Amino acid sequence: MRAALYEGLSPDVVFIDDLVVEEPRADEVLVKVANCGICHSDLSLIDLMAGSGDVSVLGHEAAGTVEAIGESVTTLAVGDKVLLTPLAPCGNCYWCVRGEATACKDAQMFSSGVRPDGTTPLSRNGQPVKRGLGVAGFGEHTVVREAGAVKLDPDTPLDIACVIGCAIQTGVGAVLHSAKVDAGDTVLVTGLGGIGAAVVQGARIAGASKIVVSDPVAERRDAAIHFGATHAIDPSADDLQARVMELTNGVGVDYSFEAAGVSALVATCLESTRVGGAAVIVGVDATLASAEFMPAALVTHGKSIIGSLLGHCHPQRDIPKLVGMWRQGLLDLESMISHRFDLADANEGIKNVRAANGLRTVLTVSG
Ligand SMILES: NC(=O)c1ccc[n+]([C@@H]2O[C@H](COP(=O)([O-])OP(=O)(O)OC[C@H]3O[C@@H](n4cnc5c(N)ncnc54)[C@H](O)[C@@H]3O)[C@@H](O)[C@H]2O)c1
Ligand SMILES: [Zn+2]
Ligand SMILES: [Zn+2]
Repeated sequence: MRAALYEGLSPDVVFIDDLVVEEPRADEVLVKVANCGICHSDLSLIDLMAGSGDVSVLGHEAAGTVEAIGESVTTLAVGDKVLLTPLAPCGNCYWCVRGEATACKDAQMFSSGVRPDGTTPLSRNGQPVKRGLGVAGFGEHTVVREAGAVKLDPDTPLDIACVIGCAIQTGVGAVLHSAKVDAGDTVLVTGLGGIGAAVVQGARIAGASKIVVSDPVAERRDAAIHFGATHAIDPSADDLQARVMELTNGVGVDYSFEAAGVSALVATCLESTRVGGAAVIVGVDATLASAEFMPAALVTHGKSIIGSLLGHCHPQRDIPKLVGMWRQGLLDLESMISHRFDLADANEGIKNVRAANGLRTVLTVSG
C-alpha cells in the first residue's frame, strides 16, 4: 500500500513509498483510509522526530472502511464505515473502569506510534514503520485496535466526518466534558485553528453567553464568528486580557481555553479567568513544560487548570453523539474544511497547515 512517510531527515517533507501492512491481530481491524485531516499535532510530531531516525506514517484524524477483522472482533464487520481515533482504550485498566478512556494506560501510548508490546503493523523493506499518533492516516491502509475504530452509519460522508477524529472530539469535548460549560457561562478561546474552531462550536452548543476569541489571523477570527463567537480580538493589535476584562465587567471569563499551543498563553488564559473559574489547556507545544502559571493565585483565587486530552472523550460513547450533533445541524463540519489535497500532495497540505491557511486541510488518501 502507498503511504506518506516521514523520516525525520528534512523538516516537514514526507515522501510517498510502498509499505507492507500486516494482517490484523485478534483484537485489531484492517482499515482502508479514505480521508485524513492534518492537525497541528502532526507538525509537532514532525518537530519531535527530526533527527530521531524513526520512520513514521503521520495522520490521526481519519475515516475509512473496514477490510478485515481479527478473530475476536465483535463490534465491526468487513465493509463497515469507521471513524478512527488516536486514543484506543483497552477497556479494563485502572482508568478505563472509571470511564476515563483518554487516561487509559494503552491510550497514553498514542504518541509512541507502536502497539503496547512495542511492535507496529507497518513495515518498509523489513524495517518497522510507526503509526504517528496511533493511527497512520496518511497511508492507504492501517491496522488499529477494534476500540480505536468506531462504526459509522453507512450514509456518513467520510470526507467530512473525518474531522471528528481529532479536532471535534478535542474541541467540543474540552467544553462539554473537560470544563462542563453551562448555559450562560462566558468563555475565552485563544487560537482558532481546527481545535479552537471546535471549542467555539462546543461553547455555542453549551449555550455560552459570551464567546470571546483571539487569533492574529483575520480569516480565522471571521470563521470563529461564523461558528458562534460573539467577540473576536486580534492579539497583535489589542491587549487581550484588558479586552476580556472589559467584556466581562471586570470579572473575567468563567472558562478559558488555550488552543493555540503557545505556552505563554497559559498565564494569559488564567489571568483572564474569573476568581473560581478554570483555564482548560488544550494546545501543546514543546515549551509547555516550562510555562509559568502562578500557583499561588490558583490557591488564593480558587482557580483551576484543567488539562484536556482529546476532550476527555470516550470514542464508542462520544463519536456517535458528535455525528448525531452534525446530523441535527448543531455541529458545522463542512465549514471546518477549507482545503483538500490528494495523498500524493501531502507536502502541500503540510505547508498549508504550517502557514495557518484556511482552517482544516484534509487529505484524500484513497478514492
Ligand atoms: N489536547 C489535545 O488532545 C490536542 C488534540 C489536537 C491538537 N492539540 C493541540 O492543539 C493546538 C492547536 O491545534 P490546531 O490543529 O488547531 O493548530 P493550528 O496550527 O491549525 O491553529 C493554531 C492557531 O493558533 C493561532 N495562534 C498562534 N499564536 C497565537 C497567539 N499568540 N494568540 C492567539 N492565537 C495564536 C494561530 O494563528 C493558529 O490559527 C496544537 O498545539 C495542537 O498540538 C491538542
Ligand atoms: Zn490532532
Ligand atoms: Zn485502559
